[in-house]
Amino acid sequence: MSASVIVSLSHLTSMKLQRVNTYIIPHLFVLFIILLASTSTRAQVEELEDEREFDYIGASEKGPRHWGEMKKEWSSCKNGHLQSPIDLSCARVKIIPRCRQPDIYYTATNATIINRGHDIAVYWKDDAGSVYLNGTEYFLKQCHWHSPSEHSMNGRRYDLEMHMVHVSPDNKIFVVGALYKFGHRPDRFLSQLEKDIKHLVDNEVERAIGETNPSGLQTRGNAYYRYVGSLTTPPCTEGVIWNIDRKIRTVSEEQVRLLREAVHDHAERNARPMQRRYNRDILYFRSKSRAKPEYY
Ligand SMILES: *[C@@H]1O[C@H](CO)[C@@H](O)[C@H](O)[C@H]1NC(C)=O
Ligand SMILES: *[C@@H]1O[C@H](CO)[C@@H](O)[C@H](O)[C@H]1NC(C)=O
Repeated sequence: MSASVIVSLSHLTSMKLQRVNTYIIPHLFVLFIILLASTSTRAQVEELEDEREFDYIGASEKGPRHWGEMKKEWSSCKNGHLQSPIDLSCARVKIIPRCRQPDIYYTATNATIINRGHDIAVYWKDDAGSVYLNGTEYFLKQCHWHSPSEHSMNGRRYDLEMHMVHVSPDNKIFVVGALYKFGHRPDRFLSQLEKDIKHLVDNEVERAIGETNPSGLQTRGNAYYRYVGSLTTPPCTEGVIWNIDRKIRTVSEEQVRLLREAVHDHAERNARPMQRRYNRDILYFRSKSRAKPEYY
């Protein structure tokens, strides 16, 4: 368009004023509309980013220190005494030997991968299986990732943490968590999703990923920590039963980089800071009596 404006200008001398009007005025008008449109698009994007509900930036008004003050429904984030994450320290655990594992049954159903802005999550819409524990059945709803890890073991934070969120018909929450460190072996489940996550990097928000088996997350370790905590994002709902696998898995740096690239800038590091334990018990379940909690 600018080229044709120049052509019009070069012909100015030989043209009558009427022709100037027919050539230049419409062109300038179109240019004006385009400039107007591009500034208002930018303003809209900025507004959307400002409307983010919370972020992970320490110095931000919407950072973890302020979550509990931002909305009345989020007050547990500040006032709760059962908050997550916490440090899972061997020195404090109660060992429960030879326990029975919860009954876990998963099945492949159609899933969707979603960029929630603060993390990447996989949602199963139909029944993808459940965990049966002490008379309650908790149905798998979604899994998502935090980097670095939110929970720590003996004071050490790892590179990635995965959460599988299960909910019972009366809305009790059971989360299976696993920690990962960088290693040469990529995580199998994330490898399957790499192409889809790349699409999310290009601003796609939601993408059907077909039949996906949650068993691919391999959560059946033979020892795990259990304690009662909360959701690690607002509204920080308490009473969540946490089960964290003791075994540290490996993930490639590339996979973690991809997860970080896909979310918004304010959530590249999306781990909530450590919360106080108060007097909570941390149970250490092991299915074999010989297994001891390990120091890493
Ligand atoms: C998944 O979706 C496809 C296409 O919509 C359908 O044919 C298939 O039966 C679904 N699979 C399950 C397990 O529901
Ligand atoms: C199992 O459920 C019963 C009844 O709801 C409860 O009293 C008991 O404390 C629960 N046990 C464990 C280990 O959570």
